[in-house]
Amino acid sequence: PRPVIIDTDPGIDDAIAILAALAAPAFDIRGVTTVAGNIGIETTTRNAGRILALAGRGDIPVIAGAAAPLARKGFDTADIHGRDGLGGVPFPEPLAPPAGADAAGWIADTLDATAPGTLDILALGPLTNLALLLRDRPDTAQRVGRIIAMGGAIDEPGNIGPRSEFNLAADPEAAAAVLGSGLPVTLIPLDVTRRVRAARAYVASLRAASTTAATASANLIEAYFTTTTGGASRPLHDPCVMLFALRPELFDCEDLTLSVDIGDGPDAGALTPGGAGAPSVEVALGVDADQALALLADVLG
Ligand code: BDR
Ligand code: CA
Repeated sequence: PRPVIIDTDPGIDDAIAILAALAAPAFDIRGVTTVAGNIGIETTTRNAGRILALAGRGDIPVIAGAAAPLARKGFDTADIHGRDGLGGVPFPEPLAPPAGADAAGWIADTLDATAPGTLDILALGPLTNLALLLRDRPDTAQRVGRIIAMGGAIDEPGNIGPRSEFNLAADPEAAAAVLGSGLPVTLIPLDVTRRVRAARAYVASLRAASTTAATASANLIEAYFTTTTGGASRPLHDPCVMLFALRPELFDCEDLTLSVDIGDGPDAGALTPGGAGAPSVEVALGVDADQALALLADVLG
């Protein structure tokens, strides 16, 4: 199995992604690091522990990370993910307290203890912890295999501003640092995640699978139907990161150089392709959505 760290702000769709990763034998999850994003750091950290507890994986450490973006104030998204960040879906309490409160330092120590190029980071939230890793331990950061991050919008409108997506807009300075780092990065933007959608029939099929992970995911998607508007289906943003890590051939990718808007306007965090001299990033622009959804159901079930 492939060693991975999940960096996350759970979050309804983060929770589904983590449950899928826990259920996939292809991953050796070394730890779950948390970041403020969908909700504050205390809640995202507790939620990471609750999700691991549901899967009976108290052996996987949770390490709390950044409580705030590098240079600005966080957003309040309680209307989307509920006051508890998980849409009120029942989860057990964490089996263990957090194993630390310095996610960036813990990621660096873990990279130093792992063969270079073999540890991947699955990033489901604002990129603050990874920017701190690059700032504080730049040489160690070079040991990462690949960062696969959900974030951004290329040809699609944004979901928090006209052109900006939540994870990048929550911490544009961090996004600029990570996308400009030259590390191997794959970005999974809204252009892809908005196509991987769960309708009611999909929820029913998860329920029918009746595993713990599938049932909890069905409950989480139901909660997402209640807390958001948007027709007959809902996008499964963060699970796309796990699906890409499992089966990259389901996605169409292009190498793009991207610049991140770090201004204060409504486009903060928005991406503009181009930018001479910037390192390029692999960007997923297309997906076989039917196969992606089938893979997710298969893993959860
Ligand atoms: C991203 O924003 C968060 O609300 C979701 O968890 C996902 O990571 C989608 O824009
Ligand atoms: Ca997230």
